[in-house]
Amino acid sequence: MAEKENKMEKIVSLCKRRGFVFQGSEIYGGMAGLYDFGPYGAELLNNLKSEWWKTHVRLRDDYVGIDSAMFKDPRVWEASGHTSGFSDPLSECKKCNTRIRVDKELNNIGVSADEKMSELALQNLFEENKNKISCPKCGSHDFTPTRAFNLLVKSNLGDFTSEGKNPVYLPGEACQGIYLNFKNVVNSTRMQIPFGIAQIGKAFRNEISPRNFLFRTREMEQADTQYFVKPNENKEEYEKIKKYRFDWYVGLGINSENLKFVQHENLVFYAKDAWDIEYNFPTGFDELEGIHDRSDYDLTQHMKYSGTDLNYTDPYTGEKYIPWVLETSVGMGRMFLAFMCDAYTEDELGGEARVVLKLSPKLAPVKAAVFPLLKNKPELVKKAREIFGNLKKEFGSVEFDDNGNIGKRYRRQDEIGTPYCITVDFDTIEKDQTVTIRDRDSGKQERVSENDLIPYLKEKFS
Ligand code: GAP
Repeated sequence: MAEKENKMEKIVSLCKRRGFVFQGSEIYGGMAGLYDFGPYGAELLNNLKSEWWKTHVRLRDDYVGIDSAMFKDPRVWEASGHTSGFSDPLSECKKCNTRIRVDKELNNIGVSADEKMSELALQNLFEENKNKISCPKCGSHDFTPTRAFNLLVKSNLGDFTSEGKNPVYLPGEACQGIYLNFKNVVNSTRMQIPFGIAQIGKAFRNEISPRNFLFRTREMEQADTQYFVKPNENKEEYEKIKKYRFDWYVGLGINSENLKFVQHENLVFYAKDAWDIEYNFPTGFDELEGIHDRSDYDLTQHMKYSGTDLNYTDPYTGEKYIPWVLETSVGMGRMFLAFMCDAYTEDELGGEARVVLKLSPKLAPVKAAVFPLLKNKPELVKKAREIFGNLKKEFGSVEFDDNGNIGKRYRRQDEIGTPYCITVDFDTIEKDQTVTIRDRDSGKQERVSENDLIPYLKEKFS
């Protein structure tokens, strides 16, 4: 366990040191559960989003993508059940007022519990086990009774009463924007059931105990797909969707042994079925992505609360019905963390220890780095700059580095996951116009003609 905890610390430290992820508002002391993505982090995050979008929108003819407004009519959150039922069980230490999330503390001592259990059931479990749970700050076992704490975050956007009488909410989950636009999509496109709508959108939750770096944050982005099917025609499609998502992770390099499916024991009242894809984080297997069979709950509720008819009419048979929804939902930060954990490797190359991020070239924040062998030889620098310019035009995220010996430059690129390093030496300018390309994972080098460089790399990135 210590080794795994250590791995998380190493990843957090690498993320800060190399500009992947910073604590939110760090210069003011930092805010819990909020993170900023730095230059390499933003590149990796964007690559993950674009791979996800490509697989779920561009390569599919039965999906379209949308981007809905974050703020919504407050009745949306009543219809969805968030204002009344979107809560986590909270208790407070009577000595130092530290708040704990009861279900997670119960899990930590090996008692099975989750936020979907009734308040009474959780309270009983908590009472039975309280003496084994210590306050994380002062160690006391003296806690207040459990109460449900609503996670929705309020805002005063458009509320000019000065007293917060008409609050609106930041989205508690991104998918509501998809349900609100179901009718618009049907009316404005040629999509017919079965079809899906995909979106990457922000969500906010007043998490009681944000934890484990990007795993549980208060602000997040969720990549969601909602697939609309005919009532009762859910089972086969559900299995296909589960497989599609699992294979997506493996296709982008996640070791399949670090992924597993886990079915929910306690279903929320509207769900027909729910599975998580869990990833083997350094803290153990835990939820990476949720795949939910949501029946017709969402569209029925919005129809009831908005008064708008959300029935779908089959264009061939004229049959009218409220479609059922199959959902996939993953937090982009949590996905980012899973890919970082899987890629983080400590190994030895040429007798030297190194840290290397073995990210898929499709995801790597920097695609290639170009080095002149020597910094003080203008003819090498000139040629390397020329090659760098050409690669940058083609691949965008390419770096030039002439600082320190070649070994040090390789290490710097290994640590951020750059798959290929290209060195311009005297053979390039005096002999055969070839450069060396060094592979990040094997350390092997081969000579490639300067003219073949772009097609060579393109093939590697495809
Ligand atoms: N629309 C369904 C929904 O929101 P969820 O299980 O609450 O379901 C879906 O969240 C996914 O969003 C989770 O599997 C996880 O990847 C991510 N997620 C949820 N809460 C999170 C948090 N506090 N921090 C980071 N990611 C979170």
